[in-house]
Amino acid sequence: MVRRKILAGNWKMNKRASDLSDFFDMFITSLGPLAARGDSSSNFPEVIFAIPYTLLSDGIKVVRQREIEIAAQNMHWADSGAFTGEISASMLLDLGIRRCLIGHSERRQLFGETDETVAKKVYQALRNKMIPIVCVGETLKEREEGKTEHVVQNQIDWIFKDIVHLPESILENIIIAYEPVWAIGTGKASSSADAQKVHLHIRAEISSRISSQFGEKIRILYGGSASLKNIEDLLKCPDVDGGLVGGSSLNPEEFAKMVQVATEMH
Ligand code: PGA
Repeated sequence: MVRRKILAGNWKMNKRASDLSDFFDMFITSLGPLAARGDSSSNFPEVIFAIPYTLLSDGIKVVRQREIEIAAQNMHWADSGAFTGEISASMLLDLGIRRCLIGHSERRQLFGETDETVAKKVYQALRNKMIPIVCVGETLKEREEGKTEHVVQNQIDWIFKDIVHLPESILENIIIAYEPVWAIGTGKASSSADAQKVHLHIRAEISSRISSQFGEKIRILYGGSASLKNIEDLLKCPDVDGGLVGGSSLNPEEFAKMVQVATEMH
């Protein structure tokens, strides 16, 4: 099964509206001829930028006509209501945004998101035919205690608990991002061998809940200090289908080179 690779940038709380055109001009220039042949018949990966809410509307206009997708970084699980400061699935869809990060470890650690709220958001995204990029991963303490697989398995349990009842055609929109918390923003990425081990485990867990054919289709991204230095090794792993990239996605030239590396791999 050939799974199209994904390179997704996560800008977090960075960049302003005035940065958008320069960033994307530079990104597209750095891609060179690849920018023109970004079509699904080539090895060109799916390129996604998860950007702040305030930039979504302009962002989608700037990348129009390009094979670049814009995603949000979070959304609420309810259709509407008294949730001051929150954004719903339909509000994102109004802007033409179908992709959304869900359950990033910074949301879990700094903003009190739990496995339960993450599961509700994933359900809501899929119900609205959106493409959730759902983050899982262990902390340093959990890794040192040898609990990585257990922690990730528990997170996958929560995510799939309710969505297993959705039709497979909707369910297959889900993208998983394995992001070991200790690797995020630290410059200390997981080794590709360790990442492959956890990705394989995640795929097996998903297969056991739905079917092995389904498990083979799902794309699992690695995130946590992914950069130009390690992306090739990571992407060589059979179960690593792409990267969720924070710091290195803020630099248009570096991120374009990472896309180039992914395109040139077979
Ligand atoms: P990083 O962030 O690439 O800066 O480690 C990744 C992420 O948080 O998604």
